[in-house]
Amino acid sequence: MNRIPYGKQHITQEDLDAVVEVLKSEWLTQGPNIKQFEDTFAEYVGAKYAVAVSNGTAALHLCTMALGVEPGQKVITTPITFVASANCVRYCGGEVVFSDIDRDTYLLDIEGVRAQLEADVNREIKGIIPVNFAGRVVDMEAYRQLADEFGCWIIEDACHSPGGYFINSQGQKVLAGSGKYADLAIFSFHPVKHIAAGEGGMITTNDEELYKHLMNLRTHGIQQDASKKREDHGAWYYEMQELGYNYRLTDFQAALGLSQLKRADWGLEKRKEIAAKYDQILSEFDFIKKHSGVVEGHAYHLYIIEVDDRKGLFDYLRANEIFVQIHYVPAHIMPYYRDLGWKKGDMPKSEDYYSMCLTLPLFPTLMDEEFEFVISKLKEYFKS
Ligand SMILES: Cc1ncc(COP(=O)(O)O)c(C=O)c1O
Repeated sequence: MNRIPYGKQHITQEDLDAVVEVLKSEWLTQGPNIKQFEDTFAEYVGAKYAVAVSNGTAALHLCTMALGVEPGQKVITTPITFVASANCVRYCGGEVVFSDIDRDTYLLDIEGVRAQLEADVNREIKGIIPVNFAGRVVDMEAYRQLADEFGCWIIEDACHSPGGYFINSQGQKVLAGSGKYADLAIFSFHPVKHIAAGEGGMITTNDEELYKHLMNLRTHGIQQDASKKREDHGAWYYEMQELGYNYRLTDFQAALGLSQLKRADWGLEKRKEIAAKYDQILSEFDFIKKHSGVVEGHAYHLYIIEVDDRKGLFDYLRANEIFVQIHYVPAHIMPYYRDLGWKKGDMPKSEDYYSMCLTLPLFPTLMDEEFEFVISKLKEYFKS
């Protein structure tokens, strides 16, 4: 049995052809595939606008910039996420306020967030970054109501959930990144994600002003709208109006992303099937204390189990070439955040979860034999 990773990209001949075509063309970057990828992705998630960027972290950074995060401002997020969801606040000099998870859903607990907002009498908290952790989509309608009560903006970190949705109070399916409730949403096209572009990211929104601002910030702060230039020296003239970055995606990455996007629904179906199989089998094992389960609208980026002897199981599976992972070491106990005052014990539910969690292999091309091998090794470990 070959090494089984927890996540893996799927590259077809069509993907290869799409990339090679761009490499042979005139445009390696800023070519026609960027706009096409943006338009197709916006349609896929049901948003009005999309901005392609170099990775998910750049997407988060541009969002905090566009929303005006600055020193003295605070932003709430979950510790159970990749550190980038918090770091984007620090890039702008803002302060991260971690808030604990709901132990059942693994998502940011909205009641905890409410308590922190209520305690913030000087209204220093300006925004909330909920994360659709593992692919389970946050009830963004509830967060919108809460955010409006306290004058906050919302960035939906949807890196784990393209194609996922939650059901709102009117019984409608609301897609992750649709912009119906969150001000901005971000995605990543890192190879372990649903759509691989090597590196890559996307911001989606329904807010035209934010969209235009993000387009400028992605390219050094150079004004993209000719009518907004303050001077006109001639056809060559470009005008940098604020400090931005080069966070552009290349055209060949966009071609790969676009080609992958055509199979996104197929990939999501496969993920659902595998999650359902895990769900059925694992429910019978009493050594599994809890697992992420099957939930309507879940995009199944990760399938997580909780066990008592997590380290032993991790080492055993790794020794058997099953490359399970831990998602995540809670962000607040990273030395960087400890140096800023956070400590063990601050987020008891996240820390309890971290002590037991383990991510099993889940990707669309996971073979039946590989799945069976994972299950057999799980059983074997707990029998011995
Ligand atoms: C929840 C979450 N947010 C943000 C990121 C950052 O994305 P990228 O790796 O594309 O910079 C990731 C990627 O691992 C992620 O999982």
